[in-house]
Amino acid sequence: MKFFVDTAVISEIAELNELGMVDGVTTNPSLILKSGRNILEVTKEICDLVDGPVSAEVVATKAEDMIAEGRKLAEIADNIAVKVPLTWDGLKACKVLSGEGRMVNVTLCFSANQALLAAKAGATFVSPFIGRLDDINIDGLQLIADIRTIYVNYGYETQILAASIRTANHMSECAKIGADVATAPAAVIKAMANHVLTDKGLAQFTADWAKTGQKIL
Ligand code: G3P
Repeated sequence: MKFFVDTAVISEIAELNELGMVDGVTTNPSLILKSGRNILEVTKEICDLVDGPVSAEVVATKAEDMIAEGRKLAEIADNIAVKVPLTWDGLKACKVLSGEGRMVNVTLCFSANQALLAAKAGATFVSPFIGRLDDINIDGLQLIADIRTIYVNYGYETQILAASIRTANHMSECAKIGADVATAPAAVIKAMANHVLTDKGLAQFTADWAKTGQKIL
């Protein structure tokens, strides 16, 4: 499973990138706001830092305007994936932009039907939001599994980009289901390293080592 980092904060991306943990980056208007940066400037910096796809989201709501914004965002770098919302206009924009050979990430997907439409419209990625479904007591991981089944049934090449990931458990569950990509905040990716038995075992080893009176260096 590929790891994308869901942030527009350069330092967070850089830290994970040094460890080879970054296969791409996703941003959205809320993350741009959080970064406090200009969208064109920060997106260019991210594209320079990361080899993989960098999603940059349009903000227009009409297909024609989304297409114009998408073309402008795509000019930033070759690794831009234009992010459009899963609305009827967004699907129209997806069809046009993907037809021009651009990567398109169709976002705000909350149902299997929406994911089916994104694949038909030629999306490179579809982004189902797990956490926001869990928030309203709908099983977000089940949606990932349903989309996987549908895409396998018909051989769709659209990649499932699991989004709105809130926990390390979401990451391993997505990997078990077979999501192509999971995008998560840096803190969630780092939390994947944590285990209470690792902490306990390390504390024991440290205490026992001190009793040996030895040094390695
Ligand atoms: O990738 C989508 C993500 O940014 C949304 O996450 O936690 O706001 O639902 P969240």
